[in-house]
Amino acid sequence: MTKYILPFLLILSMFAAHLRAQDPPAPIPKLVVCHELLQAVTRAPNGPPYFSAVRAWLVSFQALTATEQRAYVNMLPWKELIELTQNYPSYVKSSFYQLVKDRFLYWGPDANTRKELFRWALESKNSNDTTLDVLLGLNVRLVSLKVASTIRTPEARQARFGNEEIWQSPDGAGMSDSMTDYASIHKLFSRLRIVPGQRVIDMGSGFGRVGLYLGIMYPGVRFTGFEIVSERVEEANRVKKLLELGDEIEFKTQDLSAQDFTLPLADFYYAFCPVNEQTGLKLWNELGKLSASFRDLKLIYKLALDKGQLERKSIEPFEVVDEFSDIGFTVLKRK
Ligand SMILES: C[S@@+](CC[C@H](N)C(=O)[O-])C[C@H]1O[C@@H](n2cnc3c(N)ncnc32)[C@H](O)[C@@H]1O
Repeated sequence: MTKYILPFLLILSMFAAHLRAQDPPAPIPKLVVCHELLQAVTRAPNGPPYFSAVRAWLVSFQALTATEQRAYVNMLPWKELIELTQNYPSYVKSSFYQLVKDRFLYWGPDANTRKELFRWALESKNSNDTTLDVLLGLNVRLVSLKVASTIRTPEARQARFGNEEIWQSPDGAGMSDSMTDYASIHKLFSRLRIVPGQRVIDMGSGFGRVGLYLGIMYPGVRFTGFEIVSERVEEANRVKKLLELGDEIEFKTQDLSAQDFTLPLADFYYAFCPVNEQTGLKLWNELGKLSASFRDLKLIYKLALDKGQLERKSIEPFEVVDEFSDIGFTVLKRK
């Protein structure tokens, strides 16, 4: 029997070798080509080779199918890219940076990668607030334009928000400059030694930077953001989902001036240029009452504009327990 099997196996292996030789060369996957081109971009960050490398990369990127593009975006060397785009002079970086931003916003990486990159970028000297928003997935500009379209006339604005201060002009500008910068948020909460289980309330939470930061950096801390502009709340909730943050982080549409609304109890109350003077006094008054039963509660706040009676010295029965003079924040506690 073996005398037949051995020659049979020999013939079979020769046939297989023949077939292999006939195989067309394996096509180089488009993703690899695209990636190699991108590496050329990162190797030539300035000057003419950079432009042609970017152009070649863009062409190869656009040749990918939507599914391939999405897969590719997830494996990009984001840290390298972010560092590079931060270092480019603006005239060089704009188109490339815009593309990186767009892909992040629409097809960006999964929740864990986003969180990891956010932590990394927060510590890095190179990142600015726009990059950090982009890493989280916040599209401040788009939402601001959406809000702007609803307040084109003073009457429309009045009908929607009364006299409340929403930090937004009818052309869509404003809000991106009116949020706390991430470096200040980081500094504040690092020094305040917040621990899991404690609760933070943001009075006028905007796009939710404080809550998203806490969800990533301090898991287990509970956060509620109240905000009058519903589009900002929707955006914060969309990004919360993108980052897979749990129920302990919540963003709610709420007019803090409403007579039927009272602040829930929390360990920290956060306020960055939040509200008009009248609403501020209502809230300060509520905090005075809450602190009668919970003496440990702290108010962290910064007023960018002169708010008359809201100035710190008139806030009874609180006193200053910490001052962040370099970033303009003050922490108050009941006397
Ligand atoms: C200067 S922003 C600060 C946003 C956020 N806390 C931060 O630090 O990034 C103040 C926010 O308070 C909101 N606001 C103003 N009046 C309000 C009110 N009556 N009720 C709820 N939110 C209000 C504004 O719409 C705005 O988004």
